[in-house]
Amino acid sequence: MSQLRKDFLWGGAVAAHQLEGGWQAGGKGVSVADVMTAGANGVERRITDGVKPGENYPNHEGIDFYHQYKSDVDLFAELGLNCFRTSIAWTRIYPNGDEAEPNEAGLKFYDDLFDALLAKGIQPVITLSHFEMPYHLVKEYGGWRNRKVIQFFVNFATTVFERYKDKVKYWMTFNEINNQAEYSGSFALFTNSGVKVAPGENAEAVMYQAAHYECVASALAVQIGHQINPDFQIGAMIAMVPLYPASPDPRDVFKAERAMQARYWFAEVQATGYYPAWLTKYQENAGFDLDITLEDRDVLQSGKVDYIGFSYYMSNTVHAKKNEPDSFKYEESVDQVRNETVPISEWGWQIDPMGLRYAMNWFTDCFRLRLFIVENGFGAVDKLDANGHIHDDYRISYLRDHIEQMKLAVAVDGVDLMGYTPWGFIDLVSAGTGQMSKRYGMIYVDKDDDGNGTLARSKKDSFYWFQHVIATNGEDL
Ligand code: BG6
Repeated sequence: MSQLRKDFLWGGAVAAHQLEGGWQAGGKGVSVADVMTAGANGVERRITDGVKPGENYPNHEGIDFYHQYKSDVDLFAELGLNCFRTSIAWTRIYPNGDEAEPNEAGLKFYDDLFDALLAKGIQPVITLSHFEMPYHLVKEYGGWRNRKVIQFFVNFATTVFERYKDKVKYWMTFNEINNQAEYSGSFALFTNSGVKVAPGENAEAVMYQAAHYECVASALAVQIGHQINPDFQIGAMIAMVPLYPASPDPRDVFKAERAMQARYWFAEVQATGYYPAWLTKYQENAGFDLDITLEDRDVLQSGKVDYIGFSYYMSNTVHAKKNEPDSFKYEESVDQVRNETVPISEWGWQIDPMGLRYAMNWFTDCFRLRLFIVENGFGAVDKLDANGHIHDDYRISYLRDHIEQMKLAVAVDGVDLMGYTPWGFIDLVSAGTGQMSKRYGMIYVDKDDDGNGTLARSKKDSFYWFQHVIATNGEDL
């Protein structure tokens, strides 16, 4: 049975700040990723006040893709990719974010990259904002808490839509826009929205405000993109972590429902143009004074996304507290419990291939839009054998199990799926920890957590396995 569409998009996914390096090359400005130090497994990355001497900022060099992209693209072609998901670093185009004119050297870099890809039959799939907004917008405007940032983003989006209108068809607006539903730590708010919460401020209210402005900016970008090229396909990008009830206790079941609502309203606003009723009521009851205008609501209505792009790595499980408030407010750090029925990775991520099928069905039922799996993968420590090879059967097995479930969602459940781009198919800097040693790649990059290494590329066993998967359009896993 042929399960996937003939024009299925088989690719690999990365983000500019995690692989390009060249953090000051060609007039690039400082981004939020440039002020994040290296962390470790279980140790958070620190956000410094600007770039400080003596600190280790792994994104400054990445894997030097900025200088090595031509030979990397040759490897991508050998792997058989027909698409490549990356982001455009906002700071290469508008180094500070609020300039009137774009930076030509930055625009030229992406012209050259896209030309190199297209020459090999690889379509670029582009995220506009992937955890790398200009740091200047954080310092001067407070990040996305400020309505003015909408216009700066729209300028950036318009510039790149115009420039690459004949080279790029598939776009996404904000990467994992819903990570900030976990607003209690500093990481998600900073990477999603360039927001640092001041002492005494209500982080939750700030998150709702920033996310609202992003949804408005996303809708404006969708409208403008479609005017520039009606063939554009512009998607949302949602971090999908299905949240299961820990037991059949109705309180746990309702907790899981509320948790799903709290994490996925972002998709609802982008896909339907409406805020869900529960959220409007919740914000009202909480007394948040949010700047959400009638004009904004019109914009959301007329800038609905064309498809849902999403990442999938794991599922989680939640339970109700003993004294649960009537709101059943979801608090990620408190409400999650370990699901003993599935294994976990070294980084504590629950491995649940069937959760991918569940997620695909859930999205389809909710929004009736085409889906695009734009991230999936297994972060692991790889060990070189005596000949310098990596036999990453654990990665192959993770990917195989997930692709099997993805195919079932298509062939048995009728989900409309555009493509699959595994994350970090070339080793790169981890977003969460800044490590190199948390590797997702099919292509190994010789660099360690301290920045040592030749940066030489080599093929792991998973490279040859995925090459065959693509060649058979997913038939032979
Ligand atoms: C997603 C992001 O959260 O997951 C990527 O879109 C990130 O930027 C990926 O790298 C894997 O997470 P991590 O923390 O292992 O790099």
